[in-house]
Amino acid sequence: MFERNALRYLDEALVILEQGFQELPKFTPAVQPERLHAVLQEVAQRLQDNFPYPHPLYAGQMLKPPHPVAQLAYMLAQYINPNNHALDGGRASSAMEKEAVANIARMFGYETHLGHLCAGGTVANLEALWVARQACTQGLVLASEQAHYTHARMCEVLQLPFQSVVVDAAGRMDMNALEGILKRERVATVVATLGTTALGAVDPLHEIMQLRERYGFRVHVDAAYGGYFMLADNLDGTTRAAFGAAAQADSIVVDPHKHGLQPYGCGCVLLRNPSEGRFYRHESPYTYFTSAELHLGEISLECSRPGAAAVALWATQRFLPMMPGGEFARDIEAAHRTALRLHRHLADSEHYLAGPAPELDIVVWTMAAPSRQAASRRAQAVFDGAARRQLHLALLRVPNQLAAAWWPRLARDAETVTALRSCLMKPEHAEWLPRIIERLETAAREPPSA
Ligand SMILES: Cc1ncc(COP(=O)(O)O)c(C=O)c1O
Repeated sequence: MFERNALRYLDEALVILEQGFQELPKFTPAVQPERLHAVLQEVAQRLQDNFPYPHPLYAGQMLKPPHPVAQLAYMLAQYINPNNHALDGGRASSAMEKEAVANIARMFGYETHLGHLCAGGTVANLEALWVARQACTQGLVLASEQAHYTHARMCEVLQLPFQSVVVDAAGRMDMNALEGILKRERVATVVATLGTTALGAVDPLHEIMQLRERYGFRVHVDAAYGGYFMLADNLDGTTRAAFGAAAQADSIVVDPHKHGLQPYGCGCVLLRNPSEGRFYRHESPYTYFTSAELHLGEISLECSRPGAAAVALWATQRFLPMMPGGEFARDIEAAHRTALRLHRHLADSEHYLAGPAPELDIVVWTMAAPSRQAASRRAQAVFDGAARRQLHLALLRVPNQLAAAWWPRLARDAETVTALRSCLMKPEHAEWLPRIIERLETAAREPPSA
């Protein structure tokens, strides 16, 4: 299941890395190899207690294994363990971070940008909302009901008033509802999600931009999960139009640790206007001596940050350039195609009730049943039955309004419906889909346990 052959390249690369420091007096770190060996074996045993995330039969939560080039580059960088807070802590890795982030900004069509990597989508969104607070006059922060919970929570942290906006039947922010709020309230920032966590729904950013012309507000784009679909050429027209408006947003968040083949600990925040870096101004009497050039810590809320994450991202972009039509883009397109194939199967199946057609690569469905409660019970049973057949899915609680729109024939004996959910993010999912479907069908035919 794991790529092990490539580990020898790490050893070769370490030799080259060491050559850069050969002027130094010889120094050999003490490692106690026998104990190291024993502990590592124990760690490997402990790690067996996991769902098989890298395997194509893991088709549940938003998980995609890091690319081998990212894993190896990360490990290689660990031997230096640079800290990208300041050039004092990581010169090469800071330069690589700036290049990798510039490539991401280019992907979104930003002509100017200021940005950096961070721990993940939560911190990246916190930072974008903090900049929004510094930049804007007072007013509400709005995000859709299907936006990630982090926005409401971070508004609490930042003491910003937050309100959610209802969604349409596709799970996208409802434009009439948004305009209604804009007419009544003072709104500082609208958060548009390009790819919601539950459904992969894409808020109509192009329409939000039209409302911005009329009402004037800041736009932050949360593309933590969906951002890399910028490169896909096979999205539906409305979805494409939303991505096409990204370059007009004031800030964008994307997580290379979701669709960008990176180990966890790699989010990215971008500001379109580099002068907003002024909000970060701070005194750090211990750092920033080694260069007059911008230190990334001068434009980041976090202090220490892993240089290894930047190195891994840089190496991955080198291996798989982020260009339309390239191998990386084709894998993203394949993920969307696979999701559409699964959706088509579910829509035709006697056992299942499909949710909306996937805009990106998340598929949601429940069970054909007389009522919401019965469908929910069966969904849980299929979730368990599929896991017994080594197919790992996720579950989702679908709120009343969406359940009513998607599955009107289910008797409303409960407020919500439990649905099955699958994020088909791995390129291998395309080839494995028949085996996924076979297991789904077998699990659905299994008689309910007493
Ligand atoms: C749209 C969106 N925003 C933000 C986040 C939070 O990101 P993280 O888990 O990297 O902190 C997620 C996580 O799934 C997400 O899907």
